[in-house]
Formats: sequence, structure tokens, C-alpha cells
Amino acid sequence: MYRTHNCGELRISHKGEQVTLAGWVQRTREMGGMTFVDLRDRYGITQLAFNTEDNDTLNKAARQLGREFVIQVTGTVIERSSKNKNIPTGEIELKVEDLTILNAAKTPPFTIENETDGGDELRMQYRYLDIRRKVIQEKLRLRNKVALETRKYLDGEGFMDVETPYLIKSTPEGARDFVVPSRMNAGEFYALPQSPQTFKQLLMVSGIDRYYQIVKCFRDEDLRADRQPEFTQIDCEMSFVEQEDILNTFEGLVKHLFKTCRNISFEQDFPRMSYAEAMERYGSDKPDIRFGMELKNLNVVAKNKGFKIFDEAELVLGIVAEDCAVYTRKQLDKLTDWVKRPQIGAKGLVYVKYNEDGTLKSSVDKFYSTEDLEEFAKVSGAKAGDLLLILSGETDKVRKQMNELRLHMGDELGLRNPNEFKPLWVLDFPLLEWDEETERYHAMHHPFTSPKKEDLDLIKNNPGAVRANAYDLAMNGVELGGGSIRIHDKSLQSQMFDLLGFSKEEAEEQFGFLMNAFEYGAPPHGGIAFGLDRLVATMGGSDSIRDYIAFPKNNSGRDVMINAPASLDNAQLSELSLSVINLEKKQ
Ligand code: AMO
Repeated sequence: MYRTHNCGELRISHKGEQVTLAGWVQRTREMGGMTFVDLRDRYGITQLAFNTEDNDTLNKAARQLGREFVIQVTGTVIERSSKNKNIPTGEIELKVEDLTILNAAKTPPFTIENETDGGDELRMQYRYLDIRRKVIQEKLRLRNKVALETRKYLDGEGFMDVETPYLIKSTPEGARDFVVPSRMNAGEFYALPQSPQTFKQLLMVSGIDRYYQIVKCFRDEDLRADRQPEFTQIDCEMSFVEQEDILNTFEGLVKHLFKTCRNISFEQDFPRMSYAEAMERYGSDKPDIRFGMELKNLNVVAKNKGFKIFDEAELVLGIVAEDCAVYTRKQLDKLTDWVKRPQIGAKGLVYVKYNEDGTLKSSVDKFYSTEDLEEFAKVSGAKAGDLLLILSGETDKVRKQMNELRLHMGDELGLRNPNEFKPLWVLDFPLLEWDEETERYHAMHHPFTSPKKEDLDLIKNNPGAVRANAYDLAMNGVELGGGSIRIHDKSLQSQMFDLLGFSKEEAEEQFGFLMNAFEYGAPPHGGIAFGLDRLVATMGGSDSIRDYIAFPKNNSGRDVMINAPASLDNAQLSELSLSVINLEKKQ
């Protein structure tokens, strides 16, 4: 046996016992004739003590140990003279009687402690060392717990885990596919699933009734802190349900996860808001409702006073930053630069300071009288001491920009507490969205989402106004999950394909299998999928999902540890009937 205990286990109650430990050398400290070694494993750190007086050879050997050496020690548990209250083993140390080096180690490229000197790219290149750090292990532990509790909850609710294939053909989630060439079918390609959407619907036709899967999904899209090219969904589908059944079942899941994994109880039902209201009040379909600072429509007070930019704008929007009238010129210039960055794309930022002494000062004093500015304050709800920030432009654009500015101000003012969790169901998404580039409608969720019965009449003449039985769960400004009630009727589905500009042949070619299946008795059904990576990161209080994934990709979609993607040699290409062309031109 390599060890009798692990490195996080020994307490004062073990005093006097002889034990054997194995682990990694985190640190060595020499103090006079003594040497102390911090021995680390997944469970914790135990201090090892060596003393020249007791055993000079052993003490010398301890001084030769390098960082990250793998060692095995046997010794007696003794009480420490200076106790460390910060770690659970801090009352004891191991007086070492025997030391074996199981494996030497090169000096690691960064310090393997919670506070590390390793930059992002370096940590990713040596991710196996990064994962030795406790902070990362805790994140993976949380992920493991969330996945385990998900299975327990869904199993308890009668859901059945069914695996679906990865080598499939194009799925309808709207991103680009990753494709895999087929050797046996030269010139043909599989697509990796963007989600198991069509398969889970087929499983409903099969009578599985309640399906779930914790499953990898693949999407070739631009990456951000909360997006990876391969990510994991908690994917679910139910038969004979309405929207309300799904919301209740999965609100139950999220409550269960917070209770069991973070000991946080949500006593109230999760609040709900329509998509239209969320866009109006927050400019986002996943609003962070941990703080106010709602978007205020200033059209009535801002327009027709001779300020051309506002006069020509479709929408003038303001947010109130409380107690920020003290912002200096420099701070306001910095904010203006921030909204003008290409990622935000605003042309400029107008402010109105409502000073503590009641006076008003704005960047557009030329066009507005004090009385006008008082109206601004009244409509926006600004009080003395507050700062009103204003953007204008086309409705969709200015809402989007204002949402970004609101979140930025929320960060600056410390209003986004990572230990506070505010869920929100966003309901009644539009069925379709207009795509400027292709000049046609796209399904906002996917083409199997059912329109609301009461909006069916609008499909012909005003398709953009049709609402869907589609819902998202947002939390702290993150879209944790989304789903819909599906169309289970073949003629409505054909109508949808029509609307989306699919010809009969295209629809048949892409989704014929599903349409056929619907002719053999498809039950009414609906479902939802949560992003597991996002859920865990949010529960852990982080914006970035990367640390919660054991082996993530960087922002260019590369795995810098294994150096993928990589080119193929000619033999492999020819076996796959492929040749790479125009590479130089593309680069
Ligand atoms: P949707 O496309 O909304 O729905 O995806 C569901 C959830 O998956 C997460 N997610 C991602 N997480 C990390 N990286 C990504 N690139 C990424 N893309 C999506 C989000 C999102 O809410 N088939 C439907 C679900 C259904 O209708 O039942 C679907 O995939 O948290």
C-alpha cells in the first residue's frame, strides 16, 4: 500500500500514530537544523518535519527535494509547536522516519499554488499542472457535483439517460458545423451535433417520454468568455407537456442544484418576464437583475429641442448611475472612449450630472435649458448626486449598447456581487428574426419551435410579430439554458419551413427523417437544454467557463497543450479523398 492516509486527513486525534503518506512536494523550508516540507495531494496539505538531530541523512535528503517531486514518507503524527489555523491539518505535522522518492520532477513552468505566476496561455499549455492547483480542482469538483446531482434529480423525476450519436448530419441550431470526412464514403462528411435536438424529438416519437443526456455539443462560432467550440449541455425533452410543466420541472432542477451543491435555497418562485419587456427594460434577453439601473426612454424630453443627433435618433435611452455626479471629466472621457470601442459601437455618450447642490450640468447644455434637464432627471428618476448617461440611435442597436454600458457600470460600481444569484425566466421569444445579410427570416430558436396559438393568424402578414412558446433561463446576465414547445404537426412544420425559405426539397433533404417520423404518431412534446459549463461557472461566481472545463480551447479554438487543430499528412488526406487547396490565399 502506498499510503495509509491522504494529505488532508490527519488531525490531532491521530497524534502518536505511525502513518504513510504519498504526494507532491509543494514547498521546502529550512530552519536551522530542521527542514519542513509541504506535501500535497488532491485532499490537502500535510507538513512533514525533518530534523538533523534525529536523522542527519534523512534531513539532508529532504533538502535535496525539488518542487513537485513525488515522494512517499512514513513517520509519526506529532502536535505542531506553531499551529496553522488556515488548513485543516494545521495542528499536526509528520515526524518523518522514512523517505522514498517515487519520481523526480523538472521545475514546473509556474508556481503550483492558488496564487500563481503563470499566465493564461502557459497554464493552458501545461494544463495538467494547472489542475494540480487547489483553486482549479475545486472548480472541477463543483462540476462533478453538479453533474451528479443533475442525474439524481432527473432520475428521481423519471427521466431516462439515452445517448445519441456524434457522427450525424447538419443540425438546426444556427451556428456553423464542425465536419468529419468519411473514409468509407469518399467525398461525404458527417457533421458533429450542435445539439441532439432532432434525436431527442425522435425519442419522443419512440415513446421515451422523459429523456435527458449530459452531452457534448459542437459549434463553430466566434469564441468568448462564455463560449467554447465544444461544450456540454444538460439536454432534456418531455412528452405530453405544456410550457408550464417544463418551467416547473427545470426550476426544480436548478433549485435542487443550488441547494445540494452550494447550500443556497431559493424560497420564491423564479420571476418571469417577457422577451419584449426584458428588451425594453434592460436591452437584453438575459438581463442581470441583481441591480437596477434600468433603461429609460427619454424620447419625449430629448427630442425636438434642436439637438440633431437626438432628433434623428429612433430611440434616446438613459441610465442612472446613482451617486456618480462626482465623476470627473477624465472619468467621463474614459466612459465615452469605452462606448466608442468597435465592440460597443456607439458614436458618443451624453451625460447629465445632477449635482448634490441641485444644479444640473450636461455635455449638451447648448441645446437644453435647466428646465429641460430637470425633465430628463424626472423621466429617468435621477436624484441629486446621480449621473445620467445617455445613448441614442436605432432601437435595436442602442438597446444593445445600453445593455453593455449598464453591465459595465454595474461592474465599475460593484453592483454585480458574484455571491448573489438572481434567476429569471424570459418568456415569449419571437418565433423569427430578420437577417439583414440574407434578407430573410431565421428561426430565433430553431425551426421546430411552435408559434403561440394566439399568434398563428399573424404568420402570413406579420411573421416578425409572431411569438413562440420558447423560454430561456437567465441568471446574473448569463443565458443558462433555453428551450421550447415543439411543433408536432407535419403541416404546421411544413408551413414553418416555407416561412424560413426552405424549398420542399431542401426541407426534405435536411429534415425529411423527422418529418417522416411525425407521420407515425408524434406526441405533443417540448424540452430545454442547459449549458453545464455556464451553469457551473455561474454557480462558482465566475464569468469565464474555461476554468471549469478540464481541457479547454483558447480564443482561436486551439488546444495549446496538444497543439490541435493540426494539418494532416498526404497519406491520410488521400485515404480520405481530400486535398487542401488555396491555403496560402486564405491565410
Ligand atoms: P441553445 O442553442 O439555446 O438550445 O443552447 C442551450 C444552452 O447551451 C449553452 N451554450 C453554450 N455554452 C458554451 N459554449 C457555447 N458555444 C454554447 N452555445 C450554447 C447555453 C445555452 O442556453 N437544442 C436547443 C435546446 C432545446 O430547444 O431544447 C439548444 O441547443 O447555456
